[in-house]
Amino acid sequence: MTFPPDETLAFALATGRAPGKIILCGEHAVVYGRPAIAVPVFRLQAEALVYPDPEGLCRVEAPDIGRQVVVAAAGEDDPLAHVVRRVCAALERPLPPWRVVVRSEIPVASGLGSGAAVATAMARALLAAFGVEWSAGAISALVYEVEKLHHGTPSGVDNTVIAYGQPVWFVRGQPPTPFAVGAALDLLIGDTGIASPTRLAVADVRRGWQADPPRFEALFDRIAAIVHEARTAIAAGDRPRLGALMDANHEALAALGVSSPELERLCGAARAAGAWGAKLSGGGRGGNMIALVDPDRREAVTAALLAAGARRVIPTTLHTTPL
Ligand code: PMV
Repeated sequence: MTFPPDETLAFALATGRAPGKIILCGEHAVVYGRPAIAVPVFRLQAEALVYPDPEGLCRVEAPDIGRQVVVAAAGEDDPLAHVVRRVCAALERPLPPWRVVVRSEIPVASGLGSGAAVATAMARALLAAFGVEWSAGAISALVYEVEKLHHGTPSGVDNTVIAYGQPVWFVRGQPPTPFAVGAALDLLIGDTGIASPTRLAVADVRRGWQADPPRFEALFDRIAAIVHEARTAIAAGDRPRLGALMDANHEALAALGVSSPELERLCGAARAAGAWGAKLSGGGRGGNMIALVDPDRREAVTAALLAAGARRVIPTTLHTTPL
């Protein structure tokens, strides 16, 4: 990302960045204590820059989403203002006379972690401007508080994978653990172009769970078993197995009621064009899907996704990591 123009950058007190993310498997069930596997997407970035404010106010500007906020005047539930307030409260500092400018390449409400990435980038920039260093865990905990405003009852997976900036095995309430990747995994992220707030999908799953606990608990258990098997397949570098598990995870998510005709179309197109497997990623209903491909199928599957209506297709690779 090239932002901002050089002459503006010269006056920045500090900057902070954070990546987007995808959930490889386990979304929704992770809210109910089951594990999930999530990976950062560094190709998509959020960035925050801190400048002295000419009027001595503390404000946040997010031109991409048309927002300008004076922190002292913003509502309690304003996520941008909330990041500044939380950082200042934690450091026991008054609101500083700074203008925080936020840019993000991550589409909002699309399952790619836009809210958590913006909050992480802002927190990093503010902490740097105050001359303070925090651990990834401390930043993740702060962003989790902000995520509650977006999501209501977030599991914490988004803030964790984004603040740590590494692939994570995540269980709610526990520190994340890294995992072995036996062979590089090429993934394509296909965007339905349909904005779908995670909060609504999560609330609908909760209603379903309240209405029929045994059915939903069984689906969550099935997803948990898939996630465990996926970890083994990833460690072994077994792409066909992982692809099959992604398909199975998608089926379970559809049974939870969070797929959509567009997601079905994109997943079907990816499989028909030779992907090892495909699933929705994140809250669902719209947003993004992911497909696991061999490098030599990347072009064909990308073309198939675009022909099936994907707004854009972003390639990302999970690189080999021994453990
Ligand atoms: O922010 P999203 O759309 O990637 O959703 C996060 C994953 C969910 O499991 C649906 C919600 C959560 O809090 O874990």
